[in-house]
Amino acid sequence: MDKKVVVSIVLMLAVLGLVVMQASQQPNQQENQKISQQTYQQTTDSNINNGTVERWYTQQQVAQGADIFKTNCAACHGPEAASIPNWREPDESGNYPPPPLDGSAHAWHHSLALLQKTVREGGAAVGGQMPPFKDLLSIKEIDAVLAWVQTHWNDKVYQMWSERNG
Ligand code: HEC
Repeated sequence: MDKKVVVSIVLMLAVLGLVVMQASQQPNQQENQKISQQTYQQTTDSNINNGTVERWYTQQQVAQGADIFKTNCAACHGPEAASIPNWREPDESGNYPPPPLDGSAHAWHHSLALLQKTVREGGAAVGGQMPPFKDLLSIKEIDAVLAWVQTHWNDKVYQMWSERNG
């Protein structure tokens, strides 16, 4: 037989094999999807779930937190808590811009207790720029705004945060 013919027969068989493998995997994939869908629905009843990791806060807190953030925090941290691209560089007076809170910076290194404290007391007391909010926001409102902030953290960041602080 011609070498080329042999090569093309082998290739065709390989392709056929792949098609068969794919077809036999599909029902399994659908089954997995169904299961994760069920898990998702079970946990979203009470808690927010951006994927597979359960969160500590509720949808109600997130909704309340969105308003609080817009009014009190967005001017400095940006409307989506993403700050500005060069937030790592100090301005002319040596002050650093407000950091992003969306999971791309360090906020997820801190426990919930420390995040609450930062919002209550601000950074001004320890040489920073952020004003304290303890006279403006209740403890519940601070929790709500942090809940909204954390909806910006993807599952990977959220999971690392909970493992660090859990
Ligand atoms: C006047 C600008 C300003 C406002 C308003 C402001 N922040 Fe900040 N925030 C900062 C700055 C600047 C920092 C960095 C620390 C410092 O300099 O105090 C910071 C730090 C933080 C941190 C710590 C982040 C980290 O990576 O360690 C959190 C959390 C935070 N802010 C949340 C909030 C929330 C929530 C609000 C609204 C209730 C808010 N901030 C309002 C300027 C602001």
